[in-house]
Parts: sequence; C-alpha cells; structure tokens
Amino acid sequence: QRVYVPADSAARSVGADEVADELVAAAAAAGREIQLVRNGSRGMLWLEPLVEVETAAGRIAYGPVQAGDVAALVAAGMLDGAPTQGCHGRTDDIDWLASQHRVTFRRVGVTDPLDIADYRAHGGFAGLERALTMTPAAVVDAVTESGLRGRGGAGFPAGIKWKTVHDAGSDLKFVCANADEGDSGTFADRMLMEGDPFTLIEGMTIAAYAVGATEGYIYLRSEYPDAVRIMRQAIDVAYAHGCLGAGVLGSGLGFDLFVRVGAGAYICGEETSMLESLEGRRGLVRSKPPIPALAGLFGRPTVVNNVLTLGTVPMILAEGPASYQDLGVERSRGTQVFQLAGNVRRGGIVETGFGITLGELVEGYGGGSASGRPVRAVQVGGPLGAYLPVDRFDLPMDYEAFAAADAMVGHGGLVVFDETVDMARQARFAMEFCAVESCGKCTPCRIGSVRGVETIDKIIGGVDRERNLLVLDDLCTTMTKGSLCAMGGLTPMPVQSALQHFPEDFDRPPADTA
Ligand code: NAI
Ligand code: SF4
Repeated sequence: QRVYVPADSAARSVGADEVADELVAAAAAAGREIQLVRNGSRGMLWLEPLVEVETAAGRIAYGPVQAGDVAALVAAGMLDGAPTQGCHGRTDDIDWLASQHRVTFRRVGVTDPLDIADYRAHGGFAGLERALTMTPAAVVDAVTESGLRGRGGAGFPAGIKWKTVHDAGSDLKFVCANADEGDSGTFADRMLMEGDPFTLIEGMTIAAYAVGATEGYIYLRSEYPDAVRIMRQAIDVAYAHGCLGAGVLGSGLGFDLFVRVGAGAYICGEETSMLESLEGRRGLVRSKPPIPALAGLFGRPTVVNNVLTLGTVPMILAEGPASYQDLGVERSRGTQVFQLAGNVRRGGIVETGFGITLGELVEGYGGGSASGRPVRAVQVGGPLGAYLPVDRFDLPMDYEAFAAADAMVGHGGLVVFDETVDMARQARFAMEFCAVESCGKCTPCRIGSVRGVETIDKIIGGVDRERNLLVLDDLCTTMTKGSLCAMGGLTPMPVQSALQHFPEDFDRPPADTA
C-alpha cells in the first residue's frame, strides 16, 4: 500500500519529515506494510503536511497532519482511508484542486519525483518521443502555434525565441533554464523542480533538439538546496536510462545537462546577468543587443527560458499545440501557474487558464486574508510588480490587460496584504530593494533607487511633501526610461501604483507612520 508524504521543502518546513518517520513507525506497530512515497506537493500549502493514502477508491487526503497526531490517526483507520478528523476525502475531488486546469503541474504531487518509470507511466517522455519524429523546425513551429509565452515574466513568445536560435548559424549552441526564482511570493519553479524534475529535463532536451544545442545548464539559486539536490539526482537517473547524453532515447541527439548554483543575487535572474554568472563572472547586466538568442552563453546562440516555460513544452508536444492554444484568452494562451502568498488563507499553486480574474484568485481560491481582516492590496508579479486595490479585482489575468492597467502578470506570484498594510512603507521597500539588489551598472538604477528611498522618507516624514512627490515622480520617470534592465526600469511600478491607488497613505501625519 502506498502512502504519500511530500518531500517538497514547503511541506518539510512544517514537519513533513517527522510525519513520514512517525507514519513508518505507526504502521510497523500496527503490523501494516506500507510503501512510503515522498512525492512533490499538490500545492495546497495550507494543508501541508498532507498525507495521502492509496485505497481502492483512490488517494484519500489528510491534512495538515502533525507528527504527534499520526499514531492516533493510524489507530482510527487512516491507512484504510477512514474519514477521521482532518480527512478531506479523495484528493482528486477537493474542489480547490479539481477546479484547476493543470498542464505544467499535472504530475506534481502525483508521481514519485525520482522514479523514471512512474514518470513514463504518467505520460513522461511522450513529448520528447513525438518531437524526435519531427524536424527541428516543425518542433519550433509547434511551440509557436501553441502560443506559449515566456513564463519568467516578460511573456515573450517562446517559439519566436527558439526560431532565432534555430536560425542562428553556429556549431555550438546552448539551452539555459533560468531557475533563479527571486521574486517575492513565487515558488512555482521550485515546486516543479522538486516535484517533477524530469519534466524540466524533458523540456530542455526538446528545446535542444529544436534549436540544435548540445549542452544545457540549469541556473539554480542557492536558496533552493532541495531543488538542487533533486535536480542533480534526476539528471543522474536520466543519464542512467539513456534520456540524456549521447543518443538520447536511441536517437541521434546528444545532449548534456548540468546544474549550476547561483550565489544569491536577485539580479542574476536577469538573463544576461545569469549568463555572466554562468561564465564565472560577477552578475553584471550586459547591454542588449546582442540578444542571448544570437550571442548568449560564451557568445554562442542560447535559449534562455524560465523553468515553467521549458516545463510546459513536453505537454505541448505530447498533446499538440492546439490543446494548449485552446486555453486562455486573447494573446495570453494556455495556463499560468499562479502562486498565492502573503496574508492569504489558502496559499499555494493555482494553475488555470489565463483570463481568471484577480478577485477569483484572491477571494475564491485564496479565501481572503489569513488574518481574517479585509484584503486591501495585492502585489502581482513580484517586487517589481504593481500593488492593486480591491476595486481592481475584476482585472483578468492576461498580459495585455495587466499592462493596460499599469501592472504586470510577471511570473504569476500574488502577495496579499490586509487593511493594516502601510502602502507608503511598501513603496519605500521597493526603492530600498532596488538599492540593495542593483548591479550598479547604470546610474538611474544605482543612484536613483537610493535617492528614491530618501525622497519617500521625506514624504513619509512630512518634509516638503508636495515638492518631494514631484521629485519622486520625476525620479520614477527617469528610472523607467533610462535604466538598462527591468530591475531599475520596473522598480517605479510598485511605487507609482502605491501612489495612484493608495494616496492617503502618503499623506498621514508623521506619528501615524512611525
Ligand atoms: P525583455 O522583454 O527584454 O525580454 C524578454 C525575452 O525575450 C528575453 O529573453 C529576450 O532576450 C528575448 N527576446 C527579445 N527579442 C527577441 C528576439 N527578436 N528574438 C529572440 N528573443 C528575443 O524582458 P527581460 O528583461 O528579459 O525580463 C523582464 C521581466 O522579467 C519582467 O517583466 C519581470 O516580470 C520579469 N522578472 C522575473 C523575475 C523572476 O523571478 N521570475 C524576477 C524579476 C523580473
Ligand atoms: Fe544594473 Fe540596475 Fe542598471 Fe539593471 S537597471 S543594469 S540592475 S544598475
């Protein structure tokens, strides 16, 4: 009998390892033989540690389970799927999960992450096998037709990027997965790598075949030690099964894959800075052009895609581009893996077609704030994203609709704040974050962010408020227009959205904001 306890680091952080140990002990004491599977997380983080018990009726979910409860739960019939306290019935019937449309996250939490046979049994390698029957150009066309756009945040069409690399003449090309998931409130890359690492390997291999690359690198942040370990183990397993290396799956394709661990700089998530870091240098942003698609790693044509972009490709190839193109709205096709975080009651992963509204995500899936107080603001798209008020909850999650609202979908992270938030402080935080994380290459960002903190401090302190609001506005325009990359260029977005939607927070007597 299989019993599942996630080895995902979010689950481990709330005691999943101890629950797993107790389960093994309690089952042995009860004379029951169980096969413990350390799966990925289903993404219902408020239910972690989530234990799933395999029964004839399907997998039955229990959570959150504490180590101290395990013996009593086993005695009450948990291993038979009994409806004990904390039982949610069949996992697949839990509304929160059942109403989602999981494509990229289809296998996460379902399979044993490092069991390649389990991966195959759940459709793994079908996309790569299909790709290998097509010409590389046809694979690029399929990705273009699917409408898949870069999930790192910029939303650039993946197929067009691949075509640029495909068409570039070079005897050496690379595929790089950007796994430097630095945005606050985002964790989808991590959960995919920890819960279904072969999907990323398969997606990168398909990309390599499509563009003519022979080497791949996963640039993974050091703050994700579990993901680093699991990705490295998965790569070893893939080599051992002929899914990487010379003659991938018996084809003529040779592809080698490596993990490189970053040292903790937010800016190394910017693609050119990441390439500098991969080459062994300090993570300093490069001027574009040339774009990495033409002159990337070691000056060679390089596909740089986010983990989610590459992790979605196998499904697109396996099921055909139309199946993906059918989902979503307008020019935002397919699904987005939204991440609900911050002061929210039911945080976690919600993968669904684009077009769902912000309110449906926050109030519907999220269930409002964890504190029980009214929600006041949601920051969408990481620390460089806009703060949106509740009266924008009708906004559909769609790249263009968000851009029209001076906001961005970004990497799909949502951080929820209740009514106690001070938006002037949040605006200050945005400038401070930029001052700390700036690579220092260009003046508007390096100097502007420091001046931004000072100016917001004056506004908060009531010093010459009107004049300093004008200075701040001018500074934001300079940073937006004059910065070399998105770090300095987008920092004004949270600042200006806070000013636009929550002006009252910038106009309080100093005592209120101390
Ligand atoms: P960008 O718009 O400059 O470029 C997007 C991508 O398209 C790049 O990979 C670029 O090289 C490529 N590209 C552009 N023209 C091309 C062409 N003709 N052929 C092939 N490729 C081409 O945006 P950038 O600076 O790469 O990313 C900014 C975004 O990053 C922001 O919107 C933000 O949402 C996101 N971001 C994500 C973070 C995360 O943790 N995931 C952290 C910080 C920012
Ligand atoms: Fe570096 Fe900031 Fe300029 Fe980007 S905007 S190149 S992070 S100084």
